[in-house]
Amino acid sequence: RSLVVAVDGPSGSGKSSVSKEVARRLGLAFLDTGAMYRSVAWHCLNGRINLANAAAVEAAARTINMEQTMVPDAELFKVNGINVTDAIREPKISEAVSAVATNLGARAELVRRQRELIDAHGRRIVVEGRDITTVVAPDAEARLILTASEEARLRRRGLQLGGTQTAEQLAEQVLARDAKDSTVVEFHQAADGVYTVDSSDLDFAQTVDAVIAV
Ligand code: CDP
Repeated sequence: RSLVVAVDGPSGSGKSSVSKEVARRLGLAFLDTGAMYRSVAWHCLNGRINLANAAAVEAAARTINMEQTMVPDAELFKVNGINVTDAIREPKISEAVSAVATNLGARAELVRRQRELIDAHGRRIVVEGRDITTVVAPDAEARLILTASEEARLRRRGLQLGGTQTAEQLAEQVLARDAKDSTVVEFHQAADGVYTVDSSDLDFAQTVDAVIAV
């Protein structure tokens, strides 16, 4: 029986770690769509493709070979055979990725690939991103938005990045990226039939339970 769990949410809402744990608990595959946007950005930086050239960015999204393990316990991403698992998490990728996220041609291609991956896994999968509940899988059996207060999100981001940057720099980066993203993807707007889980005052286990309950 098909069970697609669509999870959207802003940076620092905990959606990645929570979605992975939900996939583990329910025995479902796991798709991190943000990693696909990051992979295209990595390919452009690595191949000296001008991120300001929309046609070139779209062409990159269409032509690169992307592989990912799609099991929550063994994250591995490859672009044209190169392991980019760690590289796509670097700050320079986080800075560059909006050029991919705001490129409508690239988005259309990534959405197409994501739908293919969902089908390839027998539609038994947790998919997390920004436009999953609305665009990629509006027909998902469960659709959720994970939210958290600005304060909670920044706190989690700080923890995640290991405290190498000052809190202020982090706050600026995260808020700037969300602002750029939301000009294209209205992921803060819950569509009809989408449950919102606010994790501001929940710990990790409580958030996972809330998602499983939905
Ligand atoms: O690090 P963070 O959780 O904020 O982001 P991510 O999930 O790794 O996604 C990286 C970037 O990809 C985001 O900043 C969005 O610009 C973009 N993205 C998107 O536009 N649509 C998606 N479905 C997933 C990610």
